[in-house]
Formats: sequence, structure tokens, C-alpha cells
Amino acid sequence: MQYTLIRGAATCALAAALALGATSVSAFGPGGPTGPAGAATESDASKGEELFGRNCQQCHNSRGKGGKGPQLVKGAWGPGGANSDDYMYKIISEGRANTQMGGFGPALKPEEIRQIIAFLREEAKRVQAADRKAATQDEGQWY
Ligand code: HEC
Repeated sequence: MQYTLIRGAATCALAAALALGATSVSAFGPGGPTGPAGAATESDASKGEELFGRNCQQCHNSRGKGGKGPQLVKGAWGPGGANSDDYMYKIISEGRANTQMGGFGPALKPEEIRQIIAFLREEAKRVQAADRKAATQDEGQWY
């Protein structure tokens, strides 16, 4: 269980390092120097977090935990859940007819939609780890 906490701290440090080194990282373009096109990276997730904050948060709440719109980080959206990245991409791009969920295809670039998905996938893993911790540990110990 402590492993999870340490890993979380390491991820934060990495995200900070990436933010500082953003110019050199982006010089390689999305996916990094050798990464396959479209593969999610840590910097995709942090860009996605910013995009999510600007475009989605007002309905899906901060970090996708749900508000006016449904949560996007648990259950079928969680790690190993039924919903695929492609399915998510389609909804974000096209929206859902006759709901408040509009299509973002015209407003966001394909890579930006993928960055948002990368962020939601990372967040779903954090939520899963936190839920597991809460279920197996005395509450309050780490807060
Ligand atoms: C104006 C409010 C609003 C905004 C802004 C919005 N959504 Fe939604 N979203 C909704 C609502 C409401 C639904 C539920 C639609 C339905 O009834 O099927 C939804 C559904 C979804 C779903 C499907 C959820 C499910 O359980 O089936 C995804 C994925 C999603 N939104 C992602 C996003 C992303 C990513 C963004 C930002 C790019 C975004 N939404 C912006 C309101 C919004």
C-alpha cells in the first residue's frame, strides 16, 4: 500500500520535471523520440488535464468525478473497464445527440482529444488505487 503513495509522489515529481523541461520534451513531438504515434505518454496526460479543465470540468467536475455530467473515471471507464479509448474518442468527438454532451470534434484537435483520454485513464488509475487503499487501510492515517 505504501508502494502506491510512493509511486504517486514519483508521478508528481515526473510531471513537474516534464513541465519544466516541456520545450525539450515537445521537440520530439507527441509520443517522444521513439514512441509510436498516438501512444499515451506522461506529458499527454498533463496536457489532457489542462484541456479537461478548460473544456469538460464545468460538467464532469474536476478530475472527471462527475457533476452535471456523469463521472468518467470508475467502473466501465476504470482500468480494465469495458469502455475502450476508441469508444471514448467517438463520444468526445461526436457528442451524444439530444444531451448536453456536445461534440468536441470541431473545437479540439485529434491529438488533444487523445490527451484528454490519456488524462482520464491516468486519473482512473489513481481513483482505483485510492479506493483500494481506503477499503484496506485505516482512514485518516495519511491525510
Ligand atoms: C455542457 C456540459 C458538458 C460538457 C462541457 C462536457 N460534457 Fe461530457 N457529458 C455531459 C452529459 C450531460 C453527459 C451524459 C449524456 C447522456 O445522457 O448520455 C456526458 C457524457 C459524456 C461521456 C459518456 C459518459 C457515459 O457514461 O456514457 C463522456 C466520455 C464525456 N461526456 C466526456 C466529455 C469530455 C472529455 C468533455 C470535454 C472535452 C465533456 N464531456 C464535456 C455533459 C458535458
